[in-house]
Amino acid sequence: MLRARGGWRALRRCASLPRARRAVRLRVREALGAPEPADEVQVQGWVRSVRSQKEVLFLHINDGSSLENLQVVADPSLENRDLTFGSAVEVQGKLVKSPHKMQNMELKAETIRVVGPCDIWSFPLKMKKRHPLEYVRQFPHLRCRNNTLGSLLRIRSEATAAIHSFFQDNGYVHIHTPIITSNDCEGAGDLFQIETSNKARESAEKTHFFNVPAFLTVSGQLHLEVMSGAFTHVFTFGPTFRAENSQSRRHLAEFYMVEAELSFTESLQDIMQVMEDLFKTATSTVLSKCPRDVELFHKYMAPAQKVINVTEKSCNCWGCDLQTEHEKYLVKHCGEVPVFVINYPYDLKPFYMRDNEDGPQHTVAAVDLLVPGIGELCGGSLREERLPFLKSRLQRLGLADAYQWYLDLRKFGSVPHGGFGMGFERYLQYILGVDNIKDVIPFPRFSHSCLL
Ligand code: 4AD
Ligand code: MG
Repeated sequence: MLRARGGWRALRRCASLPRARRAVRLRVREALGAPEPADEVQVQGWVRSVRSQKEVLFLHINDGSSLENLQVVADPSLENRDLTFGSAVEVQGKLVKSPHKMQNMELKAETIRVVGPCDIWSFPLKMKKRHPLEYVRQFPHLRCRNNTLGSLLRIRSEATAAIHSFFQDNGYVHIHTPIITSNDCEGAGDLFQIETSNKARESAEKTHFFNVPAFLTVSGQLHLEVMSGAFTHVFTFGPTFRAENSQSRRHLAEFYMVEAELSFTESLQDIMQVMEDLFKTATSTVLSKCPRDVELFHKYMAPAQKVINVTEKSCNCWGCDLQTEHEKYLVKHCGEVPVFVINYPYDLKPFYMRDNEDGPQHTVAAVDLLVPGIGELCGGSLREERLPFLKSRLQRLGLADAYQWYLDLRKFGSVPHGGFGMGFERYLQYILGVDNIKDVIPFPRFSHSCLL
């Protein structure tokens, strides 16, 4: 009899089964990794293939717990009209050692119940077909049933956990920064403004729901800066919105950003070190937690596994703002490795970045991490912690009133501090070698497209 042991999750008895006999319900992953055969096992999932032979019926079922399917072997008498590719099934039987080298266990079915039939004629996914990513993108409600998106979403889930662990293990406090905000952190103007659906009333009454104009956040940085003034090291990891009118393969209107803020930090090197440690730790965790899923990408897409071993080169440059082409050139020039670019022109960067005082408003202590194939993966800086510098910059921009609270932070125990943000989708694109950012997020939103 199967018993929970080692890394096994507690096995569940299927109390809900209508039959007198109660089977142990296993996920496909658990069944495949079972240490020993077992009678009375139940597995549920979706049929990935059906092959009917004279003497035997083969099914492959998948429940999203692993890339590998569980092979079900059954008597042809168990076949029925509804048992097709895409249907949802509940199989009960014996878990036995598989004669196949590639698979540890298979399920010898005693009963097969079709829980939900699938209309295969109108189902856009086809059995054993490798659909192009652009094709499955048209079906955001169904593409998670495809191997590539399935692996991607499992990796995404592990990467999320790895990023949280990295920060928690290093003493950072996680902060839920708001999604709705009255600030424009980056000052770049690509904001989504929030209105109620009763827009007519708002404009008739000349009011805003929040009394002030409110926007979807473009960055949690300013709120993190508040918190770094009490917790020293903080991070946030949430949805971020930019109304960029871009359909490029590296821009989304809604994406996830990982942001960290560190108090008592005077050097860009310290910020760069955190970026590098975060990248390396999260990536090695992902590679070790889901090797098969990652392998799928490296088999069919650019081999990106080597990213974990490269050493970053440092590059000190000054000039105009970097366009995608410049970023590509720099990365190529340095030998197709991740590159830190530091000290950007003062006028090109947001108000919060620290003046390097290397000339009259010449450069700020900013850092971008550029990576091959993507361009900018992380952006960060030291923040202007000196009240007079910040005040005069905000005054010149006409923002001093709006950012009085931000100036306050420089009055009440201000410390040198800095931080950065990393685009989570760009991170996934890079480690997996995925060309288009729309294929690394479950429900992509970009200009002229908001499916579902
Ligand atoms: O460089 P950005 O604009 O930096 C900030 O917002 C800072 N306030 C972060 C901070 O210091 N706390 O954005 C950070 C990263 C970029 O490097 C990029 O990877 C990603 O966010 N990003 C996008 N990803 C997908 N779609 C977009 N439209 C993105 N815009 C930025
Ligand atoms: Mg940037």
